[in-house]
Amino acid sequence: MLFLLISFLPFILIISKSIPLKSLPLWASEMRLLSLLFWREFLCLGAHWLKEFRLVGSQRFDPLIRMACKKKAAARVENVEESGEMSVLDLPELVLDAILGKLSPTGLSSMGGVCKSLRERCRSDHVWERHMKKKWGRVIGRAARREWQAYLALRNESLSNAKAKGFLGSLSCVWPLCWVKSRLDFGGKPLMSSLPDDSIMSWYLSIEKGKFWFPAQVYNREHGHVGFMLSCYDAQVRYDCNTDTFEARYPPHGRRTIPPEGGVQWDRLRAPPVDTSAHELHVTDCLNDLRPGDHIEIQWRRNKEFPYGWWYGVVGHLESCSQNDQQCRCHNNDTIMLEFNQYTPDSRWRRTVIDRKNHREEGNETDGFYGGIRKLYSKDEIAMWKQLWPTEVLE
Ligand SMILES: *[C@@H]1O[C@H](CO)[C@@H](O)[C@H](O)[C@H]1NC(C)=O
Ligand SMILES: *[C@@H]1O[C@H](CO)[C@@H](O)[C@H](O)[C@H]1NC(C)=O
Ligand SMILES: *[C@@H]1O[C@H](CO)[C@@H](O)[C@H](O)[C@H]1NC(C)=O
Repeated sequence: MLFLLISFLPFILIISKSIPLKSLPLWASEMRLLSLLFWREFLCLGAHWLKEFRLVGSQRFDPLIRMACKKKAAARVENVEESGEMSVLDLPELVLDAILGKLSPTGLSSMGGVCKSLRERCRSDHVWERHMKKKWGRVIGRAARREWQAYLALRNESLSNAKAKGFLGSLSCVWPLCWVKSRLDFGGKPLMSSLPDDSIMSWYLSIEKGKFWFPAQVYNREHGHVGFMLSCYDAQVRYDCNTDTFEARYPPHGRRTIPPEGGVQWDRLRAPPVDTSAHELHVTDCLNDLRPGDHIEIQWRRNKEFPYGWWYGVVGHLESCSQNDQQCRCHNNDTIMLEFNQYTPDSRWRRTVIDRKNHREEGNETDGFYGGIRKLYSKDEIAMWKQLWPTEVLE
């Protein structure tokens, strides 16, 4: 990148001198924000920053943006006809894109405030996709994407209905927008002006500002309550940028509503790995694959009115097995032993058996109901569960 910028440097300086100002379109003169002097600083700082980029990341660019903003004000006052001035928009596309590509979300927002043309560039999906993935990729899954799409579609519908009826003012009482509003809490601002558009930037900011509640799963819910150790439950969550944590709302347990949980740390959250909802039996497709030592998650619920959670366990050996690797035939047996070694050996939660040929939801009101199984193939997923391992064995 440094090489790229340096190799373009003579080129940049040449265009800035050789294109007569009048030959540029009108919008371009509006964009002439930066004097040649500033450009020297810009490139010098840019080079310095690029050298350090590997060490410190994209925050480095922020001083440049502040300068760009100051220069913007100065440029309005200065005589723009003065030759030798040039703007950031005179940069070759590739260089400009590379620079914008390195800016932080805050950097992009400030840079977007400099002028109209930069605003468009700084809002493009292309530059925000990377930030979206980097910051929210771990917690935003297909379900969250679907909710955002559904929200956008509803918003579209409400807006076009409203335009047709021509009463924008009382819109917030119309049903779909009430729903939209409950999904996105705009903190009392006028609704119409704060409705987001369908750009990725808008989505990013709706999550960042905690306006968008999205489906995710929470490990060890309710602050690691002992009754939920080594489980992962569905919830609607929203981000709180003041504490850099999340707030989680769990679906009700039968008639009992669960108070929301605040301060959920990043490492207790994941995007739902499968599309199965909390009230649906997951279709198990790995039964023939399961053998002793495999790591699994199994759906479990207290009773049929409660939502399922995913519980971590391993496949164990059958009682008749010598547990000798050469002689073990457990993988050929129609019965599969599941072990939950976080519990004491005599705990009723320690083991359960399932039927390899005909596995359905099994259980009763005392011990709860075991549902579908996911075999864990990913080392990261297994490591995550190990990291959550309780310090004491559970009863
Ligand atoms: C909303 O409407 C715009 C055009 O008005 C369209 O481009 C966009 O795809 C629509 N979005 C959804 C999610 O329907
Ligand atoms: C399957 O396991 C059960 C219980 O351990 C045992 O009684 C049975 O003989 C095993 N069946 C086969 C085919 O190995
Ligand atoms: C409930 O099911 C478990 C096995 O899943 C069994 O051991 C227990 O006896 C059952 N309890 C009742 C009350 O049926």
